[in-house]
Amino acid sequence: MKKRILILGSTGSIGTSSLSVIDQFPERFEVIGLAARRNVDLIVEQALTYHPAAVCLVDEEAAEEAARRLPHDGVMVFSGLQGLLKLVECPDTDLVLNALVGGIGLLPTIRAIETGKDVAMANKEPLVMAGRLLVQEAMEHRVQLLPLDSEPSALWQCLRGNGKATEVQRILLTASGGPFRRRSADDLVHVTLEETLHHPTWKMGRKITVDSATLMNKGLEVIEAHHLFQIPLSRIGVVIHPQSIVHSFVEFVDGSMIAQLSCPDMRLPIQYALTYPDRLPGVVKGLDLMQVGQLTFESPDWEAFPCLGLCYEAAEMGGTAPTVLNAANEVAVESFLAGELPFMGIPGVNRELLRHHRVVDDPCLDQIVEADSWARARAREAVNQKK
Ligand SMILES: NC(=O)c1ccc[n+]([C@@H]2O[C@H](COP(=O)([O-])OP(=O)(O)OC[C@H]3O[C@@H](n4cnc5c(N)ncnc54)[C@H](OP(=O)(O)O)[C@@H]3O)[C@@H](O)[C@H]2O)c1
Repeated sequence: MKKRILILGSTGSIGTSSLSVIDQFPERFEVIGLAARRNVDLIVEQALTYHPAAVCLVDEEAAEEAARRLPHDGVMVFSGLQGLLKLVECPDTDLVLNALVGGIGLLPTIRAIETGKDVAMANKEPLVMAGRLLVQEAMEHRVQLLPLDSEPSALWQCLRGNGKATEVQRILLTASGGPFRRRSADDLVHVTLEETLHHPTWKMGRKITVDSATLMNKGLEVIEAHHLFQIPLSRIGVVIHPQSIVHSFVEFVDGSMIAQLSCPDMRLPIQYALTYPDRLPGVVKGLDLMQVGQLTFESPDWEAFPCLGLCYEAAEMGGTAPTVLNAANEVAVESFLAGELPFMGIPGVNRELLRHHRVVDDPCLDQIVEADSWARARAREAVNQKK
């Protein structure tokens, strides 16, 4: 029987790559639902190609337009956040692939878990906001949270068959270093949006491209890996690896290290999450080590890229601190993309919010949602003051 997949964020970078992986395995997968924010043209095209039972556009006007363009007897069209949750409840789904960007992915992830579906997570922000809760919920409902982000996927692959907690010494996440590797903090004051969006090795959505330039993305992955693999923060490290060939390492207590290497192409971790536990020949070509030639590693510059340290700090504080840091960062990145905040304003806003937040320990979902709203409002005030 085919695995029935629901793709949240189908019009984005990960969403479209996921559909291109699915195209390679028509006998294995069926697309049962699609969701995005407002890209009507693309979601209508996708719906006419994959014939899902339902689609959702969170933007109401965009959803009305999609409903006009799609055959009325063919596909249901939902709208708004409620529509997204209704889509996720669809009982004929085997796997929800969450490729939304940002905190909007939290409630659909929880609803997917509550209704008994495995979730493949590209959308790292919910794991940062509410990692403990999501992992607990997944355990209670006996569903799997499958990593789809390239570095957590690499760790997952390295730990496969090697996952005894007592045998793992530490994990090391690799980062390309982004477009500003080796630039000083003083130098970063003047960088432009255009330079920031020019990532040296990966082609991704705008938010994660900015997060890669500030190293916030790596910090978010540290928190994500901490929850997914239940490894203490003190045993999670970050190493800069500009070639983006080694996607992460696991070091074992006997001194052995296992790494996962491949071309920097997101279709590989996507395929692994979709076909798991099988490995199949796929779309990504193997690695030509002679052509790669050299693999180099260096330490991150914590001073020039303070977002990385702030993520560790928030994760150590625990409770609602990572929720607040994530929300502050989303607002700061949006403001940077809108030309309202300079590049180094991003760590500035993030730091300010973390300092002003009174942490709620072991928060329930309502407290997480409340902390998230508080932080977004405060971060907007902070941006306005810095304008
Ligand atoms: N891109 C990568 O290579 C990569 C690698 C690892 C992890 N990730 C993670 O994967 C996630 C997606 O990244 P991406 O690069 O694919 O992002 P992206 O290209 O910006 O796509 C985001 C998707 O989410 C939808 N969306 C955005 N805001 C929404 C909202 N408020 N409500 C409903 N849908 C919304 C977008 O719909 P519209 O098109 O209609 O706006 C689009 O389909 C992020 O969490 C990122 O950190 C990405």
